[in-house]
Amino acid sequence: MQNNQPHPDIARILVPEDTIQAHVKVLAHQISRDYADVDSIYMIGVLRGSFMFLADLVRQINVPTVVDFMAISSYSDASESGEVRIVMDLHEPIVNKHVIVVEDIVDSGQTMSYLYHTLKGRGPASLRTCTLVQKHQEYVSVPLDYLGFNIPDVWVVGYGLHYEGRHRTLPYIAELKETVYKK
Ligand code: IMP
Ligand code: MG
Repeated sequence: MQNNQPHPDIARILVPEDTIQAHVKVLAHQISRDYADVDSIYMIGVLRGSFMFLADLVRQINVPTVVDFMAISSYSDASESGEVRIVMDLHEPIVNKHVIVVEDIVDSGQTMSYLYHTLKGRGPASLRTCTLVQKHQEYVSVPLDYLGFNIPDVWVVGYGLHYEGRHRTLPYIAELKETVYKK
């Protein structure tokens, strides 16, 4: 069933699989170095887009990690309003923990900003963000401490990212054809 042709919905591959994997190693190395002195890192994956990135990342980090998840709704999978809301919360309090929130993509920054301020209010010992991709490179109001790739302002899928639930399992990050998402 597998062949080397990208799916017909795909315009072009923006970040190939080997480039993603190499950069995940770099990020994991930075995190391992920055947190060498802590007992453990509380890694929060934002569902569903970050599941693949988080899974690859934590397996390369050589400081003990605890993995937890949050699910939020945002314009891409719930409403068009731009409103962000928690639909599944963490399993434990994060008071006095060293927390890294792991997101798939930052576009306007609204989602990450909401998460950052919400988590900050819960009294973690430290809080940093880790994002696989950022669109535009415009100013966003929260620090993007660990960042994978900057990409142009196009709709991307693959490596956890989806369009209407599809293309999440592609091993690369690809631009979707405009005809698919601008109907
Ligand atoms: P923001 O709040 O505008 O930064 O949007 C971030 C959220 O929108 C991400 O967490 C994704 O769920 C979704 N999103 C934005 N752009 C894309 C894309 O190109 N592909 C898939 N999801 C996206
Ligand atoms: Mg997301």
